[in-house]
Amino acid sequence: MGALEGKVAIVTGGARGQGEAEARRFVAEGACVVFTDVLDADGAAVAGTLPADRAVFVHHDVSIEDDWRRVVDLTVERFGTVDVLVNNAAIHRFVSILDETVAGLEKVLAVNLVGTFIGMRTVAPVMLDRPGRAGGSIVNISSTAGLTGYSGHLSYGASKWAVRGMTKVAAVELGPAVRVNSVHPGPIATAMLGPDDAGLGDARFAHLPLARSGQVDEVADLIVFLASDASSFITGSEFVIDGGGMAGRRTIWDQHEPAADSGTDR
Ligand SMILES: NC(=O)c1ccc[n+]([C@@H]2O[C@H](COP(=O)([O-])OP(=O)(O)OC[C@H]3O[C@@H](n4cnc5c(N)ncnc54)[C@H](O)[C@@H]3O)[C@@H](O)[C@H]2O)c1
Repeated sequence: MGALEGKVAIVTGGARGQGEAEARRFVAEGACVVFTDVLDADGAAVAGTLPADRAVFVHHDVSIEDDWRRVVDLTVERFGTVDVLVNNAAIHRFVSILDETVAGLEKVLAVNLVGTFIGMRTVAPVMLDRPGRAGGSIVNISSTAGLTGYSGHLSYGASKWAVRGMTKVAAVELGPAVRVNSVHPGPIATAMLGPDDAGLGDARFAHLPLARSGQVDEVADLIVFLASDASSFITGSEFVIDGGGMAGRRTIWDQHEPAADSGTDR
């Protein structure tokens, strides 16, 4: 029996990348999934490879309230309820603070922050009004950029710190019926990470303890756990999946043998 047998899930940003991997894994684990995105052609292509009776792609801009109402109504109509929401859709923006604009900041916040908020607010009443059914699980995808400061990440970082903060409040308000957790990926090999133009491969991530980027299926494993009843006593928590980047980074010292008589304490 799959880890998500009988559950109904909504996954945003599911046309590619991590969201696609999560939609696929959810179906493989026995769930019915409505996965959404603004990329209609990609979403339809993914849907074409999944069983039509258990996976539906819907066009959805997460920053638009009416779109959310339509998605939640369709999910309930089609599959009866919503057990799991993965707020995964996001946009990335790499701009220095001196070059950032109000419009640029607002654009990122509209998708990453407001989209996550509307998602929780629209789905929560359905999850709260289900006597006799196991509790709901909301998983908000933040980032390690929501745990520390990276250059060029003013808007994206602000949005991901806010997602982390909203997650705590939602966990407190929506418990005990609904669990809400945040996930903080480090570099994951998707379109958002950007192309490896210089052909460096894993050398781009040599500073990480695990010395490579993560794969979408590795993140999907964690999301399945948080969506499932196996995580039934976990809420308001943050899950870092970053190859160890938040623990620390390799430094220039790793490339040198210590001088025998240097007395350097490293
Ligand atoms: N890839 C990484 O290195 C990385 C690191 C940390 C966090 N994350 C987070 O992981 C999540 C998944 O990103 P990914 O790596 O799969 O990147 P991705 O760009 O492949 O996927 C993001 C998806 O969100 C969709 N999207 C964008 N705006 C939308 C909107 N308004 N409405 C609906 N869908 C929209 C995109 O079309 C895309 O399919 C995001 O929340 C991202 O911020 C990614």
